[in-house]
Amino acid sequence: MRALTLIAFVPFALGQLDMLNLDCTNYPGPCNNDCYAAMEELPASGEDLGADFCSQTLNYNGPDGQSNSRRRAAGCVSPSPCGNGKLPTQSSDENTCDEYPYASTVEGGSGSILRCTSDDENSAEGSDLSAFFNSVCGYEPCTFEITFGNPGGGSTPYCLDGGGANDGYQYQYQGNGNYQLYNRDSNVTNEGRWGLHQPDPAHYFPPHLRREFLLEDGSRTVLSTRDQTTSYQNATFHTVRNGTVIKHRAVKELLGSAKSPELQHPALRASKRAVQFAS
Ligand SMILES: *[C@@H]1O[C@H](CO)[C@@H](O)[C@H](O)[C@H]1NC(C)=O
Ligand SMILES: *[C@@H]1O[C@H](CO)[C@@H](O)[C@H](O)[C@H]1NC(C)=O
Ligand SMILES: *[C@@H]1O[C@H](CO)[C@@H](O)[C@H](O)[C@H]1NC(C)=O
Repeated sequence: MRALTLIAFVPFALGQLDMLNLDCTNYPGPCNNDCYAAMEELPASGEDLGADFCSQTLNYNGPDGQSNSRRRAAGCVSPSPCGNGKLPTQSSDENTCDEYPYASTVEGGSGSILRCTSDDENSAEGSDLSAFFNSVCGYEPCTFEITFGNPGGGSTPYCLDGGGANDGYQYQYQGNGNYQLYNRDSNVTNEGRWGLHQPDPAHYFPPHLRREFLLEDGSRTVLSTRDQTTSYQNATFHTVRNGTVIKHRAVKELLGSAKSPELQHPALRASKRAVQFAS
């Protein structure tokens, strides 16, 4: 009993907060898909809409040999559904299937959110993930969060918008070779077909609540979680630049009018013209 009491008074040593800071300028398509899924995914009907139901802490299990089966379960099968008309594409070079959560993590697999992206971008994000698993995790099990670095510039609208409708390219695999538009409302109407999501303020994570940080290299990054309280003072943000993992701390959290215009409170945004930050 005494031992238990003592343990209770020792501050619990939280694990190191390791952030994989995606560089959205290098792969806007996958980043956009990640943002759509991470920031706007809804729980299944009847689940508790708790504050962090959308928590996107990811677990890498080492090279567990399950990535390919999780990728298939997610619907990113071979031949690619993006190359044979099963999934619509915005342009013909978007011939690879991007899934989130990643098939290389425990959270991947059935139910993942899909978007067709270019092979170059899909591979670039995959390379960054591999570099992170190697350099930070040592190919051993590890827990991390992704953050969205440099999400401005207009190519990753789901990182910055207020839960806009499915643009017609966000899908989810239903099994048996069927893909359906991912409807973030779990109430399926429309004669059994899934329609485009109609934004419902209760069902998305408003941009002004998304937390943005300034990193030591002057870049900005946005959390993928709904967390509003954790200090990221001692978190390590790992960014892959040209294949090398660079570690940065956050210099500060950006608040109020220091945030990117799209992430500012609507009242602030309305009061002045938006000023784009240098990318
Ligand atoms: C689903 O939406 C329809 C039409 O808006 C409504 O009548 C029905 O009650 C909803 N069902 C649930 C479970 O929310
Ligand atoms: C960060 O680390 C410093 C030095 O160890 C410590 O004093 C501080 O309390 C830590 N901050 C948080 C939020 O954990
Ligand atoms: C990455 O490599 C390219 C081409 O070799 C180079 O132009 C660029 O400056 C490099 N970026 C960094 C961050 O090292």
